[in-house]
Amino acid sequence: MKRVPDIESLLRESRVFKPPAAFMQPRAANWNRKTAREQQKLAAQSPERFWAKMAREHIHWFTPWRKVLDWKPPFAKWFVGARTNVSYNCLDRHVEGWRRNKAAILWEGEPGDTRTLTFGELHRQVCRFANVLKGLGVKRGDRVALYMPMIPELAIAMLACTRIGAPHSIVFGGFSAEALRERISDAGARVVVTADGGYRRGEAFPLKPTVDRACAGASGVESVVVVKRSGEPMPMRKGRDHWWHELMAEASSRCAPAKLDAEHPLFILYTSGTTGKPKGILHTTGGYLTHVTTTAKALFDLRDEDVYWCTADIGWITGHSYVIYGILANGTTTLMYEGAPTTPGPDRFWSIIERHGVSIFYTAPTAIRTFIRLGDEHPKRHDLTSLRLLGTVGEPINPEAWTWYHRVIGGRRCPIVDTWWQTETGGIMIAPLPAVTDTRPGSATHPFPGIDAAVLDDDGAPVAPPDGGFLAIRKPWPGMLRGIWGDRKRFRETYWSKWKGLYFTGDGAHQDKSGNFWIMGRIDDVMNVSGHRIGTMEVESALVSHRDVAEAAVVGRPDEVTGTAIVAFVTPRAGIAAGPALADALRAQVTRQIGAIARPRDIRFTDALPKTRSAKIMRRLLRDIAAGREAVGDTTTLEDYTVLAKLRGDED
Ligand code: WTA
Repeated sequence: MKRVPDIESLLRESRVFKPPAAFMQPRAANWNRKTAREQQKLAAQSPERFWAKMAREHIHWFTPWRKVLDWKPPFAKWFVGARTNVSYNCLDRHVEGWRRNKAAILWEGEPGDTRTLTFGELHRQVCRFANVLKGLGVKRGDRVALYMPMIPELAIAMLACTRIGAPHSIVFGGFSAEALRERISDAGARVVVTADGGYRRGEAFPLKPTVDRACAGASGVESVVVVKRSGEPMPMRKGRDHWWHELMAEASSRCAPAKLDAEHPLFILYTSGTTGKPKGILHTTGGYLTHVTTTAKALFDLRDEDVYWCTADIGWITGHSYVIYGILANGTTTLMYEGAPTTPGPDRFWSIIERHGVSIFYTAPTAIRTFIRLGDEHPKRHDLTSLRLLGTVGEPINPEAWTWYHRVIGGRRCPIVDTWWQTETGGIMIAPLPAVTDTRPGSATHPFPGIDAAVLDDDGAPVAPPDGGFLAIRKPWPGMLRGIWGDRKRFRETYWSKWKGLYFTGDGAHQDKSGNFWIMGRIDDVMNVSGHRIGTMEVESALVSHRDVAEAAVVGRPDEVTGTAIVAFVTPRAGIAAGPALADALRAQVTRQIGAIARPRDIRFTDALPKTRSAKIMRRLLRDIAAGREAVGDTTTLEDYTVLAKLRGDED
């Protein structure tokens, strides 16, 4: 069997944490030992029968399916012929029963303002906005771009899109005008919903002016709807721009949910890949909703009395699946917070948990590491005893952060549900069941029932534990991406060409003797910075578009807080002076083209980049240099050894 190079199973963590006693009581959890065993047994016999059972138990269907799965690799159709509606499942069915006056959204703005929307109120607003969209000419299948802060109107707008079958494309509010323009035009969105601004770190940041810049020229955008949030004066373009509150005041609060095919496009969400152009990941209706609703119920053990808080921005997949859809579909109260974790003080998150009685808290390792640095005194000042379950997502969690989270935030009584998944998978794939699975700090443990995850070598053969390999999914699952918007070829090449009919995740992993999965991070040219995916190529193309730059290569280096820090190696054009001024200009260039999240931490100037004889940039060497490690690996194909020495700083 061929060994996979480059992936070493470095991590060895042997501590085991049993599920907390409070979860182990026979009827304490939604999925107790007995139910979990039954589900696992069914899923092992037939994933399709398992998912069909979940779909019947968790989702309301207007029309049943004729067939659970139609799988013509790499194209899957789930619940063939069935009809449903996501907003109906998140709202109407709760409103028809006792949950009508239960809080659906508890919202807190950064300045401290709060709003509570009951399921009944959210339903009315969603119907209104669905009618607003119709009034603007949005039809079934038309794409709507949402570029908004974390305010209830974002939830209203996305649910309204699902009500009428208009796929949304949410663009994170931190992306630049150019990034927004690219995403609007790739999706062909004719309507954009935005706000004048939002609050972050004590200041109002503008959004609408960015939309104006993104729509300059022929963008195809016909209407822009603007929520008044910051109150900053906004120029409004006549005929194109409308105030949200004015349109809403005139719209009816009745709107029947469209009975949509299970495979109707639900949303597009752009994510970084290994080329300069982001990929529009396409998700559809019935399978996605089944996947996120089932996993949320089982893994977060959602109960009617819970206050659930996921700190992710809705602009990322975590926010789509586990701030809104999977949570509201279960009739659970979801908390939304607009701003920064440390505004006005380092204890903002803990104060929110205490004031709202949050019982389930889902955040990212990078945030946990930030809080560790800020000091235990901040969480200790607050009563966090309402918490009963903690989750993490976005990147591997280091055991130190895990144990701190467990001890200081969870008071040693909360299970930690480390969830591995991706924009492409739609929902959680590998994670412990809180009442069942023994957890090990740093491991996402076992695949969810019905998910066939495996560690494979280059040839698609399973790698024996504890060796490392490529993380693959061997069978289709309901929340899987259905394609890359407008690019079937790239869809095949990116995910389905490494092995025939098997999904390639882009992650390296290994399993231990007990079958636990340990994710080793990305093995392609995608960096995970603070839990956000950024392609090295995207940053490189932003850098080389600067007129003073001849060539650039971008790699990640390990960072204690953000997981990865971006390092750029830049060769200036002849006659251009390298120095702090150029470095500043380049950082500004990246911010302008992509957004501040992609700004390189270090910029190192060099006369030339190390290349192989076939002119490929030697990224592994650059990664070693960036990390300050001794350059290992085969350097004999270096065209110019002096480059290596210069880059290492040997000449300083
Ligand atoms: C990484 C976020 C280790 C992984 C939901 C994956 C993780 C990428 C974990 C997807 C985890 C996510 N442990 N690594 N629990 N969760 N990742 O698309 O590299 O923003 O491929 O989806 O994040 O990032 P994305």
